Amino acid sequence: MTELRDGEIPETRRALGRAFQTLGREHGFEPLTTEGTIPKELRGTFYRNGPALYELFGRPYVHYFDGDGAISAFRFRDGRVEGAVRVTETPDLTEERRAGRALYGSGFTKGPLWRKRVFARAKNPTNIHVLAIGRKLWAMPEMGVPIAIDPETLSTRGPDPFGGVLRQMTNAHCRTDPESGVTYTSGLSMEMSMTTSLHVYAFDASGAARHLTSVPLGGFVVMLHDFALTKRWLVFVAHPVRVRLLPVIFGLSAPAEPMQWRPELGSEVLLVERAPPHRVTRFRMDTFFHFHFANAFDRDDGTVVTDVCAYDTMDAPEVMNVIDARSGRAWVRGAKSRLDRITLDPARMKGDRETIASEVVDFPTTAARAQTHDYRYVYPMLTREHRDLVAKLDVQTGDVEVGDLGRWRCPGEASFVPRDGATGEDDGWLLTLAYDAERHRSGVAILDAARIGEGAIGWAWMEQHVPFPIHGCFVPG
Ligand SMILES: [Fe+2]
Repeated sequence: MTELRDGEIPETRRALGRAFQTLGREHGFEPLTTEGTIPKELRGTFYRNGPALYELFGRPYVHYFDGDGAISAFRFRDGRVEGAVRVTETPDLTEERRAGRALYGSGFTKGPLWRKRVFARAKNPTNIHVLAIGRKLWAMPEMGVPIAIDPETLSTRGPDPFGGVLRQMTNAHCRTDPESGVTYTSGLSMEMSMTTSLHVYAFDASGAARHLTSVPLGGFVVMLHDFALTKRWLVFVAHPVRVRLLPVIFGLSAPAEPMQWRPELGSEVLLVERAPPHRVTRFRMDTFFHFHFANAFDRDDGTVVTDVCAYDTMDAPEVMNVIDARSGRAWVRGAKSRLDRITLDPARMKGDRETIASEVVDFPTTAARAQTHDYRYVYPMLTREHRDLVAKLDVQTGDVEVGDLGRWRCPGEASFVPRDGATGEDDGWLLTLAYDAERHRSGVAILDAARIGEGAIGWAWMEQHVPFPIHGCFVPG
């Protein structure tokens, strides 16, 4: 990567800053302007979630993650595309809108009133992911209660603790076994003793949830954002992130402010068996940090292969503050991740990590059918020369192919959509919600996954920008 002078911010990163402006317009499904080829076989809805309001009644949020979330959706049918975007009306946001002023803090933003701050009473903006099963759609928070969304209108139905089975808080990510169709997600609960338990949930095809098992973690774990799935295991890795609780309890800090990186404590692997009685194998390995698994699978010798976007250290959380996201400085300062393969050996209680490709990658996705299997392709966002590209990474060879959407266009996380009757793992399309800095608007780019080097084959453009999204999914149909 080209070296920067001290304090220099590349023009590509400065241009991206406007993607972090508050969402200007909400609307239900309306026809979008298209360019290029929109394949007629591409049928279904592409959902994204992400922070959308960066200030409320004149009070700015401190951090990218603090913004009230919005769901955006893009419906593909017969070569046409309709788009919609709506802010998720959490109960706290509704209360604030009725009061006509900001009442709550968020993860890194202190609340204006003492009584709303103590015991970590803050708004959870439900802005990280979506979970879609059957005819149900939820906006997913990190460490909060999911919010049910009407998939046809994107209007907010309200908090839904999975029909009552949720034990306190869900984590953001879910995984689906492509053969059984069972979707899993996880969550945390915090006991009065200031210890944390991990909970695992499974959903049937209608979206009905069961609580599968609880795992006392024996300490205060604050983040288990994502997990990996194999035929035998759910794979979690808890990194040495600690929180000084007293400032949070007494309202002196916003809840996520006093996070500390304690590398000397090591990263802890938790393997939870999918089958009852859900035995747990746990052990420590060398410290690393990650948000996202790409995939995992079992080997015949009992070892477990997991591919992760690994960082050497956790960024100081303030790196992604809104001011630096808007100036572009956040990308200059942020830690860089690469795709590592970790082979976990439950019998010997050890994990070995090696790098598959040294490119800077995160937000990995795969074909749904590749999950839990020995596979070939990960499609992450890849950063080169201060720009983000769509990428296809062959985990068997380390080969990398990139799809460039244009100098002033920045992709987000991709979703893979298989072609009807697909036989090859890469026989399908990649969809990504991208920001065009020249025209300050957002659109869905469609790439042929077998030839992503050709760039986008088609676009569906909104009139306005959608603030930089985090995660989402594609629902066929
Ligand atoms: Fe994530």
